Amino acid sequence: MPDAAAALARNRSLWTIVNSEFTDEDAHRAWAAEEITWGLFGVPESDLRVLGDVAGLDVIELGCGTAYLCAQLARQGARPVGLDLTPAQLATAGRCQERFGLAFPLVEADAEDVPLPDASFDLVVSEYGASVWCEPERWVAEAARLLRPSGRLVFLTNSVLATLCVPEAEGHAEERLLRPQRALHRVEWPGGGVEFHLSHGDWIRVLRANGLVVEALHELYAPADAENHGYYDIVTAQWAGQWPAEDLWVAHLTP
Ligand SMILES: C[S@@+](CC[C@H](N)C(=O)[O-])C[C@H]1O[C@@H](n2cnc3c(N)ncnc32)[C@H](O)[C@@H]1O
Repeated sequence: MPDAAAALARNRSLWTIVNSEFTDEDAHRAWAAEEITWGLFGVPESDLRVLGDVAGLDVIELGCGTAYLCAQLARQGARPVGLDLTPAQLATAGRCQERFGLAFPLVEADAEDVPLPDASFDLVVSEYGASVWCEPERWVAEAARLLRPSGRLVFLTNSVLATLCVPEAEGHAEERLLRPQRALHRVEWPGGGVEFHLSHGDWIRVLRANGLVVEALHELYAPADAENHGYYDIVTAQWAGQWPAEDLWVAHLTP
């Protein structure tokens, strides 16, 4: 199987397993949440204000998983579309739509090759979706193609520092560099999926090459009272209280 097809198959299998172990069960809680929060330690959107007023906007989430972010955006008056590669994740999203009485399109597709027209969205979001699991040169190009002029791209991914400090055999980030930054880009985990991580300089290069202007890079720390995440063991709350666990990028397409 060529590399790209093999990565898709591995990631789809991984997320089918994660759905059965965690995300399906957690979806009800995530859909019921009263406010949008970002990342493993729930930094409130009201503190960061990266999304702005979304009422009336056409929004696509690339790698929506169980689509709880889409649900929050729909409640705020946006018209979201949730796109994901993994049928099990979308099945959970569909079940939650019925339970919560919210309807929006769910598309099963690869975020590197989106079957939707150019310039059809005002906002593209990705919360640990395409932003981690897709080849940056390809999904950012798709995001730029899907955006209308001046449209915005907001995405969350692991911080560069956390990625450099996580052991190759997985487990929590340590307090030392365990991986050369030159070895970033395609990162494979034993028994896991295929992730893509760039340095900050490389993200800026890819964004600019696709006509996107960086507005902000928020480096997310865990709040003082944060507890370790119950399922994802990337960083502890203690680690993330000292170093940023996640990078939240905000950019817009040139008018
Ligand atoms: C961590 S979840 C993101 C959803 C949610 N925001 C969350 O944090 O749980 C990652 C999602 O990316 C999806 N994904 C992985 N590769 C993808 C691809 N090539 N195209 C679209 N979605 C993809 C997976 O199926 C999975 O549902």
